[in-house]
Amino acid sequence: MYNIAVLISGGGSNLQALLDAQARGEFSQGRVTLVVADRSSAGGLLRAQQAGVETAVVPRKQQSGLLDLLPSRHIDFIVLSGYLSILPEALIVSYRNRIINIHPALTPLFCGMGYYGLKVHEAVLKSGMKVTGATVHFADEGVDTGMIIAQQAVPVAPDDTPETLRDRVLATEHILLVDAVKAWTEGRVRTGDGRAWIAPK
Ligand code: GRF
Repeated sequence: MYNIAVLISGGGSNLQALLDAQARGEFSQGRVTLVVADRSSAGGLLRAQQAGVETAVVPRKQQSGLLDLLPSRHIDFIVLSGYLSILPEALIVSYRNRIINIHPALTPLFCGMGYYGLKVHEAVLKSGMKVTGATVHFADEGVDTGMIIAQQAVPVAPDDTPETLRDRVLATEHILLVDAVKAWTEGRVRTGDGRAWIAPK
């Protein structure tokens, strides 16, 4: 049984999707055992506490604390879910291909420094693209540059605002993230030639 830590900075709707899937018994090989926020105001902390999951706060300027905390809780797999702090490189190295991130666009488009939250969807609308989407990728030393594990396209409507587009993408994120976590805990995430993919059941 793999122990999963979810790192958050905000409301935690993606975290809630994972907790709901867990409550439905969908994670046969893994369980969310720790939720870490980089600020005590993160609404997702309450979601974790309501689900009976241990929580911790590691402030943005003390991210090195993760290097002790996560191993001390025997964490096998880390999910970045709306996490806005930069992880210590030592953590990326020690958890190589065991950290995934959910991004609200189709990387390598509309990602990297400064592309988070509504800014992503504002850029998509400004570009005139007719599709956007969500991406689950491995976290590496860059920002949103890790190997893509799974993606799902989402249509852009002519009358979309950044908020309506965000909400449509977020609904897709929730599904994509649960599927990716399930696949990883079941050993179905494959890597090769600098690429990653989910093998069928
Ligand atoms: C989501 O758009 C997610 O893709 C991004 O952060 C936003 C907040 O997610 N990484 P959540 O509601 O806090 O899970």
